[in-house]
Amino acid sequence: MLKIKKISKKYHDTEEIIYKDLEIKEGEFISILGPSGSGKSTFIDLISFLKEATTGEIEIFGNTFSKLKDKSLINSLRKDLGVMSSNSQLISSLNIKENIKLPLLIHKVNDSQEYFDMLIDRLNLKKILYKYPSSLSSGEKQRSLLARAVILKPKLLIADEPTANLDSNNTHQLVNYLIYLNDVLKTTIIVATHDDIVSNASKRIYELKK
Ligand SMILES: Nc1ncnc2c1ncn2[C@@H]1O[C@H](COP(=O)(O)OP(=O)(O)OP(=O)(O)O)[C@@H](O)[C@H]1O
Ligand SMILES: [Mg+2]
Repeated sequence: MLKIKKISKKYHDTEEIIYKDLEIKEGEFISILGPSGSGKSTFIDLISFLKEATTGEIEIFGNTFSKLKDKSLINSLRKDLGVMSSNSQLISSLNIKENIKLPLLIHKVNDSQEYFDMLIDRLNLKKILYKYPSSLSSGEKQRSLLARAVILKPKLLIADEPTANLDSNNTHQLVNYLIYLNDVLKTTIIVATHDDIVSNASKRIYELKK
């Protein structure tokens, strides 16, 4: 499903993050761990095609990219790729319900009321559906971003620190939702996290060193 080979990212001439090769098979649930600054968010952005690697290759759903030239192919893959990056933002002029449903419009996918209701219930979003992003708490924004990332039932979900800013109730609810996605909908999941509750729920660890 996803293979990374000899990937590195250079931000400055002196500093380079080098990633160990990794292959992720369908159905996996893997946590990316490592100290602050070790390159977790960078990794999430590289495998989500939001940033370009300095060297190496990324293979996803059978397509290999060494440079991100083929924008139209990447955009067509996005339907199966749910992403919650550290740079993901809600659109300020849309309410939360519209934000969450936006990928359905973009990819011209029919709405499933049943799935939407279940998602809203499990991520505890019912009370804020008609609010606008500027009036939400960080945790509410976080849960809305995750809902938007999974509204298309992607084959692969890639999320950066999905439980940052959440209290323990919401953390447990969100982690239970990830387990449900992985167990029942067979979504492959990659999460960067500092949170033991998330990494304990995952089935494999990919560790980065500083
Ligand atoms: N846009 C950028 N420009 C320059 N340097 C960057 C940029 N983004 C990240 N870096 C550097 O790359 C390194 C890895 O950053 P990254 O955000 O991937 O770490 P992280 O493991 O996600 O950390 P944290 O746990 O604090 O979120 C850091 O040294 C950071 O300063
Ligand atoms: Mg980070």
